[in-house]
Amino acid sequence: MTAYFGLDIGSSSIKAVQTTMMGAKTFGVNSVGLVVNPAGSVDFSNPIVSDKLKVSLKQLLADLKIKDKRVVVSISESKVFSRILTMPSMSEAELASAIKWEAEQFVPIPVSEVELDFSILQPSIPGEDKKMLVYLVAAPKKYLQAMVDFLTSVGLEPIAIESEMVAVSRALTFGDTGATTLILHMGAMSSVLAIVDTNALTFSYVVESGGVALTRALAQSLALPLPQAEEYKRTYGLDENQLEGKVRSGLLIVLDTIVSEMRKAMEYHLTTRKSHVSRIVLSGGGAYLPSLGSHLSGVFGGIEVIVADSFAKGKVNKGAVIPREKAVYSVATGLSQRIF
Ligand SMILES: Nc1ncnc2c1ncn2[C@@H]1O[C@H](COP(=O)(O)OP(=O)(O)OP(=O)(O)O)[C@@H](O)[C@H]1O
Ligand SMILES: [Mg+2]
Repeated sequence: MTAYFGLDIGSSSIKAVQTTMMGAKTFGVNSVGLVVNPAGSVDFSNPIVSDKLKVSLKQLLADLKIKDKRVVVSISESKVFSRILTMPSMSEAELASAIKWEAEQFVPIPVSEVELDFSILQPSIPGEDKKMLVYLVAAPKKYLQAMVDFLTSVGLEPIAIESEMVAVSRALTFGDTGATTLILHMGAMSSVLAIVDTNALTFSYVVESGGVALTRALAQSLALPLPQAEEYKRTYGLDENQLEGKVRSGLLIVLDTIVSEMRKAMEYHLTTRKSHVSRIVLSGGGAYLPSLGSHLSGVFGGIEVIVADSFAKGKVNKGAVIPREKAVYSVATGLSQRIF
């Protein structure tokens, strides 16, 4: 198969990563970069948005000298309906027809209006008799079509569309030894929680608030204009010694909701899988919120908290420069690492 790259169109920025897989332990990094999303939206069906995105995306590909047309692209977790299901062991063909019935249980729109996809996370669940773990995702056909039309209009050929969750967990478990990890991927509009146990995604959940909600909460509580609230968030974050802890308190209004979902996720994991989450990996732009790591470590009894580096196992090829804020690229790296 000819080369392809990973493209993550976020509401804050568009990221592209191109890699060459070199077995299960390492890969080559050829290009990495981002451009600000001038529309602040990923609504491809809106011509004003898609025109702005088009200009920026072309600029990014030109800057990175990416000439490939084939692309693996992400779909925002907040645009899809997904579930991790425990199902009786069966063949892929049987599963393909069984998932339709499963989807009807949780997809709030008619199943005829969504595209269904699945991946087998664990062919046999340890300690459970003849059961498998399956990730099921349903994406609205309308949204998918608008996205494909957009990519085609830029001269690209989408060869796969994946949810953020799948891409992030692939990138952050690449070549790993398998500590039970909770990933918090905090973007601008949403935050994705995932638990990865012995390299399989075992839990996923989306919180419909991210960096933008944090900034809004801060703007409101301190009566600040949004750009200034954004600056305060990035400069002071959760540091209690700054501005008498007022920035921290403003941010915690939103962050507490995310933290309580993290707690529920860990408890669920302990009950169902009988194992403790042993570390937290922070991903997305929100990973750089000052003092977030120490805050979470404090909340969760001293747990290890690290910032994601999807390039850690990569060999950087000539011409590629790894940016400082690596955690922003987890989705794009994971997409580029998909094997067909
Ligand atoms: N130093 C920082 N401290 C706090 N937040 C930050 C920092 N740097 C970036 N962010 C936040 O990260 C968010 C952007 O992250 P990211 O690039 O992962 O989002 P996105 O992928 O474009 O959005 P989405 O996937 O939700 O559409 C913004 O809300 C921004 O405020
Ligand atoms: Mg994103």
